[in-house]
Amino acid sequence: MLNKGLYNAMITSVGHYVPDRVINNKFFEEYLDTSDEWIRTRTGIQERRRLDRDLPTSYMAVKAIENLLHNRGIGIEEIDLIIVGTVTPDMIYPSTACIIQEKMGATNAWGFDLMAACSGFIFSLTTAIQFIQSGSHKKVIVVGADKMSAITNMEDRNTCLLFGDAAGAVLLEPTEDKSYGIRDAIMHIDGKGGKYLHQLGGGSLHPASHETVDKRMHFVYQDGKTVFKEAVKGMADVSYQIMKDNKLKPEDISYLVPHQANLRIITACADRMGISMDKVMVNIHKYGNTTSATIPTCISEYWHNGKIKKGDNLILSSFGAGYTWGSILLKWAY
Ligand code: COA
Repeated sequence: MLNKGLYNAMITSVGHYVPDRVINNKFFEEYLDTSDEWIRTRTGIQERRRLDRDLPTSYMAVKAIENLLHNRGIGIEEIDLIIVGTVTPDMIYPSTACIIQEKMGATNAWGFDLMAACSGFIFSLTTAIQFIQSGSHKKVIVVGADKMSAITNMEDRNTCLLFGDAAGAVLLEPTEDKSYGIRDAIMHIDGKGGKYLHQLGGGSLHPASHETVDKRMHFVYQDGKTVFKEAVKGMADVSYQIMKDNKLKPEDISYLVPHQANLRIITACADRMGISMDKVMVNIHKYGNTTSATIPTCISEYWHNGKIKKGDNLILSSFGAGYTWGSILLKWAY
């Protein structure tokens, strides 16, 4: 799908942030009809993080970007563009990108938010690649950041225990060496999935009102069983497709970096690709589903732990509301 430009886009730095406050499964046992055992075995989640009530998504995004800049040894003024994948912007507008730009003094950057739910990061990354490949931009930051605690109904056992708050970021720069960097991307949407996973209130169809609040329309709604089946198929198919299109065998893949919605979906995807779980990046047990942040926090954590090396082939895959789904293939460049 990628229309190769003058350059390849390569990731040259990573950063992430998770809030300090840990919510374990016992927390939910105390007031909901659920159990630590059910949550662990059905989802793989042991705990998740919660950001303070009065802090917004941009707070976490700024921390992740600070970490990224420190790791690259550059200042924010070098950044040309900031793309923020999120479904929990600080507010509808101005965009979270504008808020981050102002908070960090990114005086040479423009930017925007991109909403693709759990695929927010890979859709943002695929968008960012175009600016690097064309040669028009030299340093682009892609952030995946979500404060899911702001839109989860803590009385709904179908959703509240699944989600957490986090932010992850990557820096993209050009390379003339076409064997490195982002090599392929396959993206899909299917609007038929909208009725199974959505947040109905607050948009132009159902503006905020007493009724939307009373009907809990500002929270995530999910028909978990239906989405589960579609996610297993969608994520596994597209991950397998990108391997096949690029003539890669399971042994050529260093890591699958899957969206972290459910460990059973991750395992099914790895099985379909013929990849063993030791080659799959996983942090769902610690953070739950952090929506746009799952993939960049995984990459950043593994990088900080010295587990990614130059030449590693990574496949990034996700599935989320919309439906939205896709895969990106890259060869790690530093
Ligand atoms: N605690 C205890 N029991 C629960 C429960 C909970 N929190 N939620 C549901 N159950 C019960 C159900 O009532 C049902 O009981 P029954 O068999 O007596 O009817 C049983 O557990 C199975 O319910 P089901 O809804 O089929 O669970 P599941 O195995 O599908 O798991 C999810 C639920 C949400 C974890 C799972 O469907 C999922 O991960 N969905 C996809 C998420 C996703 O990928 N989203 C896209 C990106 S956000």
